[in-house]
Amino acid sequence: MTQKTLLTGQTLLFSGDPLVLPWEDCVHVDSSGGVLLLGDRIAAVGPAEGLREAHPEATEFMYGDNLICPGFVDAHVHFPQTAMIASWGKRLIDWLQTYTFPEEIRLSDPYWAAELAARYLDLTRAHGTTTVASFATIHPHSAAALFEAGAARGQCIVTGKTCMDRNAPEALLDTAQSAYDDSKTLIEAWHGHGRARYAITPRFSPTSTPDQLSALGALWAEYPDCLMQTHLSEQPDEVAWVRELFPQARDYLDTYEAHGLLGPRGLYGHAIHLEPREIDRLADVQGAAIHCPTSNAFIGSGRMNLPALAERGIPVGLATDTGGGSSFSMLRTMAAAYEAAQHHGRPLHAAQLIWLATAGSARTLHLQDEIGSLRRGYFADITVLDLKSTPDIAQRANRAHDIWEDIFTTVMMGDDRAVRATWIAGRQADEV
Ligand code: GUN
Ligand code: ZN
Repeated sequence: MTQKTLLTGQTLLFSGDPLVLPWEDCVHVDSSGGVLLLGDRIAAVGPAEGLREAHPEATEFMYGDNLICPGFVDAHVHFPQTAMIASWGKRLIDWLQTYTFPEEIRLSDPYWAAELAARYLDLTRAHGTTTVASFATIHPHSAAALFEAGAARGQCIVTGKTCMDRNAPEALLDTAQSAYDDSKTLIEAWHGHGRARYAITPRFSPTSTPDQLSALGALWAEYPDCLMQTHLSEQPDEVAWVRELFPQARDYLDTYEAHGLLGPRGLYGHAIHLEPREIDRLADVQGAAIHCPTSNAFIGSGRMNLPALAERGIPVGLATDTGGGSSFSMLRTMAAAYEAAQHHGRPLHAAQLIWLATAGSARTLHLQDEIGSLRRGYFADITVLDLKSTPDIAQRANRAHDIWEDIFTTVMMGDDRAVRATWIAGRQADEV
């Protein structure tokens, strides 16, 4: 018989996009709510009392004052960089050359790739993250390793083999043809199988020749249902380098657009130093801008103006970008997003920050009909937050005048200690 489980506590519910509409109209907390799980799905959401009466046979987990949220969705990470997070003192290009590329060469060993994939999913689950969109390395087996680790956990994974055919060490180079062939083989093997989704993954324009970008654009046209993930305008030096490498291009985004790599299923990480034309084009085609605020602070990249991009109607998601990002925690990432927006004079409300880390990121991955909200029929990917997880948070929360002040304290000061439970596809970590 399919397992029936009832989670009761304070439930966080969405009914719209709080970056476009007033957040009060879109995000609600039911202080005595319930979520009924049937197998791997959410079967019902509503007042705890009613669900308890209607389903007396369900096993109840009483979370009391804890906040029952959709699981966190990290829309841009590099799982191969897990073991080199917090590497000191460099900026993007020399950070890649000094730390990142040597680390990614290690994943030529399939056993290490598999071990790291499992380690990464265990670490992020402890932080309440239930879905990730990750870059792999150029080795096809590294993408397969993350898909396999995800499948073993019942977890939704978006990943793809990273493609690079220039400006990287010899051991990390593929070719236009092999990038096309290997990506296609992985798409056939994984895309749409269970909860796996493939993202065609040119690392960024500086490490792909125009031939490789064209080959990947052609592949995307063959498989338009796949996502496409890359980097865009992260640091001024990088933007200048792209201008040298692509003298014909109107701007950085045009290096993708000219090769068939601009589209509504495109995920453009960072998107900080944008020209007005790039903002217009992202808005026109509904390509997603993925905000990586801890990474942007750590590598010294600048600060995306997320509220302004959202106002233009560009889909925006939130991400750690580990190991450029300095934390696996989406709570730490929400805090950094708040600080970045403050810099632009646009403070984000706690309701907007949590929406970004869940439904907003899910929408950028085109998974908004299955994850990112507590809704009937959605996957039971759920994170339960303790709003008094440490003495310093508890003493501040005790002063809170309402639930949002309470939640904001945990958003700003919380970490994995605030994650009371993480459910993926209806199961807790220790049941996997
Ligand atoms: N740009 C190209 N590759 C990377 C990467 O691995 N991390 C970050 N932060 N930016 C990049
Ligand atoms: Zn990145």
